Amino acid sequence: LAEYPVDAVVHAAGTVVNTSLDAVSADELAQVWAGKVAGAVHLDAVLADRPLDAFVVFSSIAGVWGSGGQAGYAAANACLDGLV
Ligand SMILES: NC(=O)c1ccc[n+]([C@@H]2O[C@H](COP(=O)([O-])OP(=O)(O)OC[C@H]3O[C@@H](n4cnc5c(N)ncnc54)[C@H](OP(=O)(O)O)[C@@H]3O)[C@@H](O)[C@H]2O)c1
Repeated sequence: LAEYPVDAVVHAAGTVVNTSLDAVSADELAQVWAGKVAGAVHLDAVLADRPLDAFVVFSSIAGVWGSGGQAGYAAANACLDGLV
């Protein structure tokens, strides 16, 4: 790592579960959260003291104004936006 220091993060993981809010299960929310939020939060924590040139994530407009049948995905993207 000293020879090849990490100086940028590109987080492109994501999972969509197409379920409306009144039908979404805890397992589905956990699946969406794991793909979209947990990895980015861990990377942010692990690299907190390291100066980076870039920390790139791929969010979705669903996090801003929602998306039909994608309640968990929308919440996860809003969380990602908040992290960034
Ligand atoms: N495509 C679009 O129109 C669009 C629009 C808005 C935002 N985005 C966002 O842009 C990003 C990339 O989209 P994409 O179309 O390239 O998605 P994709 O083809 O579905 O690829 C998503 C990748 O995330 C990985 N992944 C899922 N859950 C994971 C987890 N818990 N841990 C680690 N990796 C995980 C998947 O790995 P496996 O294949 O091994 O499951 C897959 O390689 C995503 O965050 C997506 O939400 C995409």
